Amino acid sequence: AVELSLRPRYLAEYIGQTSVKENLKVFIEAAKMRKEALDHVLLYGPPGLGKTTLSNIIANELGVNLRTTSGPAIERPGDLAALLTNLQEGDVLFIDEIHRLNRSVEEVLYPAMEDFALDIMIGKGPSARSVRLDLPPFTLIGATTRAGLLSAPLRDRFGVVSRLEFYKTDELAFIVSRASEILGVSIVGEASTEIALRSRGTPRIANRLLKRVRDFAQVRGDGIITHELARSALELLRVDPMGLDAIDHKMLRAMIEGFRGGPVGLDTIAATIGEESQTIEDVYEPYLMQVGLLQRTPRGRIATPQAYRHLGIPVPGDS
Ligand code: ADE
Repeated sequence: AVELSLRPRYLAEYIGQTSVKENLKVFIEAAKMRKEALDHVLLYGPPGLGKTTLSNIIANELGVNLRTTSGPAIERPGDLAALLTNLQEGDVLFIDEIHRLNRSVEEVLYPAMEDFALDIMIGKGPSARSVRLDLPPFTLIGATTRAGLLSAPLRDRFGVVSRLEFYKTDELAFIVSRASEILGVSIVGEASTEIALRSRGTPRIANRLLKRVRDFAQVRGDGIITHELARSALELLRVDPMGLDAIDHKMLRAMIEGFRGGPVGLDTIAATIGEESQTIEDVYEPYLMQVGLLQRTPRGRIATPQAYRHLGIPVPGDS
């Protein structure tokens, strides 16, 4: 599928996240030299920055199988036991949204991570006993939007903890050019940069916008993504010059017009605009904070003067 082929398969093709990448390169090589499983890896950061892509790359570079699942998909300890007992030596088990594992499942994971062992209860009542089953050495890769949501005992069992950062504009422009080549569409450099500027530091968004802009180029243009075409398509897609979408606008406007710019609590903002608090916190706020339009304070969220200016609303107290 196109979606998958846009993703880099090896570290050398992976753009950005330089320090994470350089470190992983060493850890992977060392594990291969020693013929050991790579230590468990925790990847955290906002959605769309490449956590799944990186885990695919890690498995590829190690030359092992990748099994993919997610916190909410593992409902009972037995579900995790089934996954673990099907691993081969050195395999990677990727658990997305690992902060959403329930406690009873997490407890099975501890000895699995630490001792490659599975403790199984046999029988019920007074005759019940625990049997220890050996597992093949494996690598757990956990991904989460916020490491703070992990329990301390789980977090402590990862030997490698990497935070993914928002991408720089030139990195995203490069990703867009690379994706255009894979998609077989011509794009000028200024158009790649225009898409990059409006992608909130996020490759997933950049690639999505590229595909929509390509649609405009094919239907309204002559198939080539020029700067002007990119700009007008992005306008029609309601992505503003900073990459903010309708929900960002609604949120900032609600804070400014309903609460004098704050401080206002997250749940109040969520209720006012009809979005989930969790979505606002994981998806919208990190970028708004990164670009200086929003601040988190102990008393609530604040829309900054830059937010007023970006929306074209006079800043209170400015003359
Ligand atoms: N596509 C999505 N993310 C990418 C990255 N980090 N490098 C190259 N291509 C990508």
